[in-house]
This record gives sequence, structure tokens and C-alpha cells, in this order.
Amino acid sequence: MSILFNEQAGIFKLDALDTSYIIGIFDEDKFVSHLYYGKKIIDSDVNYLYGPLYQVRPSVLPGQAGRIMDAVPFEYPTYGCGDYREHCLEVETADGYHACDLRYESHKIYPGKTHLNGLPSTFEREDGDCNTLELVCRDKVLKLKVTLLYTVFEHLNVITRAALITNEDEKAVYLKRAMSGCLEFDHQNFDVLTLHGSWERECGPVRTPLRQGKVTTGSTRGESGPTDNPFLAVISSDVTEDTGEVFAMNLVYSGNFLGVAEGHHFRGSRIVMGINPVNFSWKLGQGESFTAPEVVMVYSDQGLGKMSRTFHDLYRRHLIRDVYPDTLRPILVNNWEATYFDFTVKKLTEIAAEAAKCGIELFVLDDGWFGNRNDERRGLGDWFVNEEKVPGGIGRLAKEINHLGMKFGLWIEPEMVSPDSELFRAHPDWAIQIPGRHRSLFRHQYVLDWSRKEVRDHIYGMIHQVLSGANVEYIKWDMNRTLTETASAALPADRQGELCHRYVLGVYEIMGRLRDDFPSLLLENCSAGGSRFDPGVLYYSPQIWGSDDSDAIERIKIEMGASMCYPLSTIGAHVSAVPNHQTGRITSLETRGYVAMAGTFGYELDIARMSEDEKAVIRKQVDLYHKYHGLVKDGDLYRIEDSLGNPDYACWMVVSKDKKEALLTYIQIHALPGYFGAARRLRLKGLQEETVYETKVISVSAEVRNEDVHREGADGTEKTYAALNLTGSALMNAGYWMDRLSGDYMGMMIHLQAK
Ligand code: GLA
Repeated sequence: MSILFNEQAGIFKLDALDTSYIIGIFDEDKFVSHLYYGKKIIDSDVNYLYGPLYQVRPSVLPGQAGRIMDAVPFEYPTYGCGDYREHCLEVETADGYHACDLRYESHKIYPGKTHLNGLPSTFEREDGDCNTLELVCRDKVLKLKVTLLYTVFEHLNVITRAALITNEDEKAVYLKRAMSGCLEFDHQNFDVLTLHGSWERECGPVRTPLRQGKVTTGSTRGESGPTDNPFLAVISSDVTEDTGEVFAMNLVYSGNFLGVAEGHHFRGSRIVMGINPVNFSWKLGQGESFTAPEVVMVYSDQGLGKMSRTFHDLYRRHLIRDVYPDTLRPILVNNWEATYFDFTVKKLTEIAAEAAKCGIELFVLDDGWFGNRNDERRGLGDWFVNEEKVPGGIGRLAKEINHLGMKFGLWIEPEMVSPDSELFRAHPDWAIQIPGRHRSLFRHQYVLDWSRKEVRDHIYGMIHQVLSGANVEYIKWDMNRTLTETASAALPADRQGELCHRYVLGVYEIMGRLRDDFPSLLLENCSAGGSRFDPGVLYYSPQIWGSDDSDAIERIKIEMGASMCYPLSTIGAHVSAVPNHQTGRITSLETRGYVAMAGTFGYELDIARMSEDEKAVIRKQVDLYHKYHGLVKDGDLYRIEDSLGNPDYACWMVVSKDKKEALLTYIQIHALPGYFGAARRLRLKGLQEETVYETKVISVSAEVRNEDVHREGADGTEKTYAALNLTGSALMNAGYWMDRLSGDYMGMMIHLQAK
């Protein structure tokens, strides 16, 4: 059992793969204090860790005047009794008082993991994967019970946390803040790593030194959002991709969130993550409970690379459900960038027919098939087919696509309503709004009040009908605006602060129903690109559209940023047309393919207008995907350090778990002149020192103008690239020689096979 309780010392020791996390029940007054988190400690008696706590004994104890709460490391710090640092819990009583003081009451340790009510969470896949500790704490004055849930994944460096808060008093209380987890450290020698960006520029890593004060990340948009991802790590100041200590948190939640790293005045630091307290309040009547979502904590003693691989392993096996961890996703073609709203069935089937000939497996009809949706100003909410555009309906179109040998998929944006729609005319009060206040439009649409069951049921009913009448095997679930002027016509004044969380619970409920009612449906999420890219969504959909920026060069940054936490197999990535619709950049079809293959692979262009040569390239890409995507999906990702943030090139590799095979992708962003300027040695990673690898260029892009890159002949075909037989030790230490490469945006894929 990875969770030990030393009763005499009042110490819980949670051991993950090479991590220990230690909790102490301090003193006869039973404060739940944090004693250690980091590399595994083998000692079972760590009583001495209490030492510093005796110096600062909490001031709430009788006869301890002069000592303080503000220096005690707590597992779940509360507001109101002298701890002024970032806290996890703030409670308001019916009388308007704000103070809470939690003490240990009891605990339970058991194998497996409890599912969180109405919320997504990681799960045990096989017996013995994980063990759980439930620590029950109580504020005696409030009669408030707080159960802290810790699950240890024994074979990974992962511990998850969540909290369940129950009011046992007959008077209601209001939660003003109910965070998911907290970490405490006795120093501030950290940088803080967060992921920031914007629409079309999601998931950019930002590294900020931690000092006294706070570094924060968060969202109040109603979704996790494009500007801040629900991820925060404190990393030793010397961290690289391969070295240094990392303590990361990632919230399994898709709404407003807050992550704070605080360097406090006693020279320690505290990290807190959970639902954003802004515009949050939750009323708990007698016997009612609130569940704070799960936060995943990953420890790495080998830098950011190992942190990412741990997140990937966890999410691939313990978050993504059903068949998806083990099946290759179909290669899709989506008509959005090919036609936007301007399509006919003839045009769609032309694209599909050409795509089918190239080996593409799934055709996705994007926005514009329903109501009077001929542009972005109207139609959302009217989930019945526009027979003028799609005569015979989705059923007939799906059949035609199926006849071509392809699966059929459909776009929906169920959380939204256009003012110009039948739905809005019938139910104007269903849109989120504050009475008497202007209701903001974004992209000409309002957000439906998904905290209301009748609204959810009505929308789901319409979509269910479409799906029941057609062979739809894939859904792209979009969400193209954020929440503003949040109020619900169905909630009383003292529950308005519940709307944003109830909205997210409503989204989860419908995604869950969709999956239950159509178990073989592949669900891909999207929110104006990657604006709701979080582990909460991954529980329902194994892939999420990474960004509305489909430019290959911009996409590298977005995909490598997202890969900090999320497996490549979850990042929706497509080859689109050039000049690129977002940046105007021209890159070769091959280079666009290499970048899209570091994600779920697909196309978003008009294949019917492509030349035979281009279609031949697509056929090769389809072939490469089938040969190597299993490796990309299941393997270990290594970002080549030097290339991160390097304006001249990007490079990453995926190594199979048995280390017998690897795939290296290299993209030259900016060609440099001269022999030594342009050539470089790429120090590979993750291989076995002694193993000899046959190292072979399997594809080069059209930008390559240099004829002598490991070639035997000069006829320009890939077959002429000579394989090199090199040991892992040569490849990792001396490096793989990228020789005299010319051409901006030149890309190359290299396959390594153990001999
Ligand atoms: C969003 C998505 C796009 C596309 C459009 C359709 O912007 O991110 O991929 O589906 O909506 O309106």
C-alpha cells in the first residue's frame, strides 16, 4: 500500500513512484499540516519534520499568544483565523461572519479511487493502480465537515487531490472560496511556469521568477480560456527539459479557475489551485455538499520533459476513456477552411470523394448545416437541418459519404444561441443575462443558460434527433464565446454566484449523456480553437482542436506548449491550404504534414482543387500516419531542448516505451548561411546508450534544396537517403548530424529502429 499511517506520530506518508508526500496531524489540537513533498524518502519515522511547527504554534491555541497561524504549512488553509496567505477555503455564515478553522477528525485509506459527483476525474484502470486517503476535518463552530481526498498513482509520479465540503449545521453557509489543493514549501528558490496566449496563440509557456508576492494564472471567462491554461508549476530556478525539480498542478476543470504561487513573508511559498473565487459563491443548506474539482499534482526530478511524460502517461491511461487509449483516430478532412459557410452537397461530396481516394477516413461537415445559418450572424440554437443546403438531410449526406468508404462527422455549438434564431424568439430568457443591463454579443451570439435543466434538455433533444436519424460517427463540439453579464433567471439572489460552476456541470452532464447514448461516437472538443483545452474536457473527448491558427510554423509553438501537459494524441491538428488563412505564410505540404502529425492528424482544405502531385503527397502522408502514429500516440515525447524558443529551428522526438523505435521531426524555421551556420548536431534523447539504431530519413519537404543530405544518389526521392547505424550513445551525446540544410520551413522526419 502506497499510503502509510504512523498513528503514534500522526503522520501520513503517501508514496508515488519516486515521490513522497507527507502530512502531519500536528499536536493534540490536530492541525492538518503539510510536512514534505518531493523526491521519495525511505524513512518511515519522519517525526522530526514537525520541528519547525513547534516554533510557530498556531495562535488559535489557548495560552499560545504571540505565536501565529501565518507561518504554519497547512494542507487546506482557511481564511479568518490569522493565516493571511493565499487560502483554500472561505466560508460566510448566515450571520455574515467569515472565519474557519479546520482540525483533523478521522481518516480512511482504501484501494482505488472515488468518482467525483458530476465532475470529470482521473480513474483507476486496473486493480492496484492507485490508493486513496480521505482525511476528514471539521470546524466545530460552523459544523462544517471537509473531506480532503488524496489519490496516489503508484506507478507514476502522480498524486491527485480534491475536496468535499459538507454543511452539518441547520443554518445555511456560503462558500466564497473552495479551492482544490495546496502545496507548501520552505523556500522560494523557484520559477513559476504557466501557459498563456490568446485566440490563435494558445498555450505559450511563460517562466517568471518567484519572489515575495504572487504569480497568478486564471480565468473568469466561464471556460478555461485561451489566455491562461489551468496549469501552474513551480520549478527549481535551474530547470531545463531534462534536469531540475518540478512541482506541477493541472486542474481537471473547464470553467473559471485560479492558480496562485505565493512567495510569503516567512521566506516559504504556497501554491493553490481551484475554481476562481471571482463571482463564485455556493450556498450549502443542511446536509448539502460541494465538491471542489480534482487537481493533478506531478513531481519530476528530471525537468520539464519528465513532467510532461508523466502527465501524458496519466491522461492516456487514467483520464481518456473507453476504446480511445488503444485505437488510432481516423484521419479526417474538415470543410471549414475549404468552404466556410459557402457549401453545397455537390461541393462537399467532391471534397470527400477526392479525400477518400487519398485514404482519408472521416469527412467532417463544419458550421452552417442547420437553421438559417448562412453566416455567423444567425441560426445557432436551431438544430434542425437546412434542407435548402443539405437536401434530404444529414441522414442522406452521411449515407453518400459512407458510400465513398468514409465515416461522417458533424459540427455543433450547442451552448449558444443567435438573436436571429427560432430558439431565441421563443425563449429569450434562456440566454444568460442580467435584467436591465445590456447583454453583450460576441460573434453575434449569446450563451444559453446551461445551469437550467430544461434548457439543456431542449437543446440535447434536438441534437439527439439529428444524430438518431443519421450515421454520425464523430462530433466537433464548439464553443465560440465567453460568458458575460452572468445571471440566471432560474436562480434566487443568494445563488447567482453558483451560475458559472452550474454552467460547467451542465456542459459535463450533456457531454456525458452524448457519450452514453452514442457510445461509438468520437467527440472532439473545440472552443474557437483551443480555448477550452483542459483535462476536464479530455475526460469526455479524447481530442481537442488545438487552435484556429493552422499555420504550420505558428502551430509548432502551440503544440509544443500544449504538450507540457497534454499528450500529442489529444491535440487536434490539420494540414490547411497555403497561403495560410491566418498568417499568409507559405509552407510546403510536407512540412504542414509533419506538424499536423504531432497531433491527431487531419486536413482542412479543398482536396478537390489540389493537383495530382499534391494528392500524391497526401497519400504518402496517410501512409506515414498509419505506419508511425501508433508510436506518436503511445510513445514518450522528448522536446529537443535547444530548439525550444529557438527562432531558427524546432525539433522533437517520440520514443517507443521499449526504446526500440523513435521518430524524430525537424523543422528549419529560418535558414542560415554557410556550412557551420546551417548545420547542427541534434542531441537526441530517450534512447538506449548501447543499442545500435538504424537511423533513416523517411521524408523530406519540398523546401530542401540541398542535394547531399545523407543521400546515396541524387534523384531526389526519399529512397536515396542512406541509413546510418549509430548507437544511442552517439546519437544522444555527440548528436545526429543535420547537415547543410537550406530553405526556410524545410522539414524532415527521421525514423530510428533498434537493430
Ligand atoms: C470556430 C472553430 C472553427 C470553426 C468555426 C465555425 O472558430 O474553432 O474550427 O469550426 O468555429 O464557425
